[in-house]
Amino acid sequence: MAAPPTILVFDSGLGGLTVLRQIVAARPDAHFVYVADDAFFPYGQHSEEAIIGRVVPLIGELIAAHAPALVTIACNTASTLVMAHLRERYKVPFVGTVPAIKPACASSKTKRVSVLGTRGTVKREYTRKLIQDFAQGCEVTLVGSPELASLAEAALNGSAVHDAEIAAEIAPCFVGDGEARTDTVVLACTHYPLLMERLVRLAPWPVAWIDPAPAIARRVVDLLGPAGGAAYEAGAEMVFTSRRAHTLNQALMPFFGGRVPA
Ligand code: DGL
Repeated sequence: MAAPPTILVFDSGLGGLTVLRQIVAARPDAHFVYVADDAFFPYGQHSEEAIIGRVVPLIGELIAAHAPALVTIACNTASTLVMAHLRERYKVPFVGTVPAIKPACASSKTKRVSVLGTRGTVKREYTRKLIQDFAQGCEVTLVGSPELASLAEAALNGSAVHDAEIAAEIAPCFVGDGEARTDTVVLACTHYPLLMERLVRLAPWPVAWIDPAPAIARRVVDLLGPAGGAAYEAGAEMVFTSRRAHTLNQALMPFFGGRVPA
């Protein structure tokens, strides 16, 4: 029997776990390596040059170390900058994560859509171009959140995060009133679905929250093919670029389909 393929999932921190769990569900037979570049977190605070200079060589090292069949960049802040560089430099297939503006605008009834991402992601030329090409008559509000990714990390690490802090970060997404108010919010940072229950509860009114993770998992299956066997129970590794030992086993297990990552 052929060895299971290794799928490497990369993010600046723990946000990419929201993408990982969808890929694990779609390809439970694969071996997973999750890499959190926590030594450089948060990416939202770095310049474009610094992110390209950091991520492109680091992915090369990770490919050399883990020989993945596919790499998912589960980070909007990086994907909106580095995908072309990665595809030019390395032969491995890549799947990126970019703001889901097209499906959000296609499904909005009120034609008012907000894009909630890091300050870096909402500033990107790439994001502006997506709006230009795919707004489909919608008014799109870009909201660069300074703290939400860090709050999501803190919550997953078991620290107390107050509702008021989350509410303040999402408030600018809610614009207009009556028939002409926001009905769709694009989660343009993979950290944010970690807070999904609280986002729903703290929203001033109900909206559709668009999480791109299921679409990313479908793209992985398109490229690698469907699951080829039973779940590969030993197949999970968690790497922190800071090399800190992680103590998050219990919290991480659901994202790895119940496996305890090494
Ligand atoms: N998870 C990352 C994203 O999807 C960003 C968090 C950060 O490092 O600022 O954009």
